Amino acid sequence: MYWGQGTEGESLYLLIPAAGSGRRMGSDRNKLLLPLLGKPLIAWTLLAAKQSRQIDWIGIVGQPIDWQDFKSVVSDLNLVDSVQFIQGGSTRQESVYQGLQSLPTAAERVLIHDGARCLATPELLDRCSEALRDCPGLIAGIPVKDTIKVVNSSNSVIESTPDRSQLWAAQTPQGFEVAKLLECHQEGIRQGWQVTDDAALFEQCCLPVKVVQGEETNLKVTTPVDLAIAEFILRQRFGAI
Ligand code: CTP
Ligand code: MG
Repeated sequence: MYWGQGTEGESLYLLIPAAGSGRRMGSDRNKLLLPLLGKPLIAWTLLAAKQSRQIDWIGIVGQPIDWQDFKSVVSDLNLVDSVQFIQGGSTRQESVYQGLQSLPTAAERVLIHDGARCLATPELLDRCSEALRDCPGLIAGIPVKDTIKVVNSSNSVIESTPDRSQLWAAQTPQGFEVAKLLECHQEGIRQGWQVTDDAALFEQCCLPVKVVQGEETNLKVTTPVDLAIAEFILRQRFGAI
């Protein structure tokens, strides 16, 4: 659980945005607390972080209504000493910004990984952590399999078909130099940019973001069908639990 197994002396910090409400899941509580193969969904995300060799500080960005439940998950995983709780905002963008402001001052680089991507493996977290030593910004991503259409929202007519060979689906983890990402968030607030991931802020500020090979199974649990698929994948991965 130490950056470079202690040789580099630099800790890697992980922020987990977990302050959403799971509206598209249609549940009456944060989807991250829904049961998935016997554990709350966020427990699987935290388990991967715990098993990563590189991460030794975890900030969970959440809403006060979920503190009690999050704390019992953290305690069941024996992660109490590695985890801090940070109050989230009303959008993911705000939650990450609040997370960044709550990082220890020693934090030079940060990985951000959505609580809802509970199938990311420790190997993916480690691959991103390693790559983050050599670049200011990165994301995990995979080439898209579908042909993507740009559709006019008022008349539902296709406007264009971007060349698929250049299209990647963005995932998390996303990793950045903390000072640069903070500046990008602040510029985003000044300019009124509304984005759905942190790489988009980096891009808007003309900073390079590298893509690291993600995982096809690293889906973001968003709707009930995702929960069923996630359960299937976990059963395949760990045998019938
Ligand atoms: N998130 C957050 N703060 C918010 C909104 C979202 O930290 N104000 C987090 C979610 O908890 C999730 C991740 O960002 O781990 C990705 O968001 P998403 O999948 O959209 O989750 P929700 O916003 O909870 O779901 P929905 O959009 O369906 O309401
Ligand atoms: Mg959302």
